[in-house]
Amino acid sequence: MTEIFDKDTLKKSFGSFATGVCVATSHSGGFTVNSFSSLSLEPPLMIFNIYKTETDHISFLSLNRFIINFLASDQQDVSNLFASKDTDKLSKVSHYKNEKDMAILYDTLGHLELSVYQQIDIADHVLVIGKVEDLSINNEKEPLIYFKSKYREIK
Ligand SMILES: Cc1cc2nc3c(=O)[nH]c(=O)nc-3n(C[C@H](O)[C@H](O)[C@H](O)COP(=O)(O)O)c2cc1C
Repeated sequence: MTEIFDKDTLKKSFGSFATGVCVATSHSGGFTVNSFSSLSLEPPLMIFNIYKTETDHISFLSLNRFIINFLASDQQDVSNLFASKDTDKLSKVSHYKNEKDMAILYDTLGHLELSVYQQIDIADHVLVIGKVEDLSINNEKEPLIYFKSKYREIK
């Protein structure tokens, strides 16, 4: 089917929607994510997507758990690291492991500890619905924003 817009224009349109930035982590690594959305309060659900061509989602989700770390305005370097192909990202950021062996980053706006509730394959992405098992909130920090392919801060 011929579209009336090209891929670059579509990308620009999607990029006109400002988002926060998070890092999804599990037992051995993680990656930068801005497709996070809250989904439901009862049950407590969120959703995000994994681009299967780039990320080994099977390894990432192999323990059926993951963490969403909400990045603060001073964590652009953390976002860049986790958007890279570095093979040992966790060793380069301060973090700890919870009792389920999930890596949790320090100095963020807070995090969600999740179990995998459902996975839906769509084209080259997998939609992951996570159930919140625990969380923490840091009220002292401001968010990192992503808008039109650039990082921003709330002023
Ligand atoms: C701001 C930003 C948001 C991103 N959001 C997503 C996302 O929601 N899902 C995804 O699969 N990749 C997303 N990416 C791309 C991944 O972070 C990138 O492909 C990363 O290199 C994957 O790491 P890995 O190869 O170690 O899995 C995003 C990148 C940036 C910079």
